[in-house]
Amino acid sequence: MKAIIFDAYGTLFNVNSIDERLHHYYETHATELAAIWRRKQLEYTWLRSLMGRYKDFYALTTDALQFAATQLQLEISEAITADLMARYYELKIYPEVKKSLQQLQQKYRLAILSNANPELLERAVKFNDIGSSIERIFSVHTIREYKPFPGVYDLPASGLQLKKQDLLFVSSNTWDVAGAKAAGLQVAWIQRKGGVMDILDQQPDFVFADLGGLLTIKT
Ligand code: LAC
Repeated sequence: MKAIIFDAYGTLFNVNSIDERLHHYYETHATELAAIWRRKQLEYTWLRSLMGRYKDFYALTTDALQFAATQLQLEISEAITADLMARYYELKIYPEVKKSLQQLQQKYRLAILSNANPELLERAVKFNDIGSSIERIFSVHTIREYKPFPGVYDLPASGLQLKKQDLLFVSSNTWDVAGAKAAGLQVAWIQRKGGVMDILDQQPDFVFADLGGLLTIKT
C-alpha cells in the first residue's frame, strides 16, 4: 500500500456542520429539510450520470436544496440559498481527521477523490488547514461522471502513477465503498455512527470506527 485516497463528505468533512444554520432559518423543519436535501443531492448525482446530463456538484446541491424546500412548502429566498450553500466551503472536518492525516502522511501518499467540484474541495481543505497532508485532489469533474461510475475510481491510480493494488480507498458512504471495491480498489469503510453496509455484493477489506483505525494497518 503506497497511497490512501479519501472520500470527502461524511469521511473527512461533516455535512452536519450546516445544521445549525438550517435550524436558524427553519427551526422545527430543519431536520427533515436536511434529510431530504442530502438524499436528493445523492439522487441527482446518480440520475444525472444515468441521463448523461452532468451538472457540477455545487449546482446540483443547490437544486436539491430547492427541491427539499419546495417539497416541505418552505419559503427559500435567494439570500438564504446563497448563505446555506456558502457553508459548503466551510464544512468542518471530524475531530480526529487532522491528526490522523498528519500521522498517515509519514507512511503514505494521501489524496482525495470526490464528487465535488475542485474549487469546493480546495476551499474546504484550506478552511480546515489540512492542505499540507493532501498531495492531490481528484474530482469527478474531470470526467463528468459521478460515483459509483467505475471510471471515477481509476482517477487516483493514473494521477499518482501507481497501480490500483497500491491504493486504499477510504469512505464512510457504503455505496461508495461498494463502488470502489467493484472497480478493483482495496477499501476501508469508516463506520461512523454504526451504519449498515449496503447489500451490493461487495465487502470492504477493512472496517474502522474513524480514521484513526487506518494507522493500525500493517503494510
Ligand atoms: C464525495 C461524496 C460521495 O465526496 O461523499 O464524493
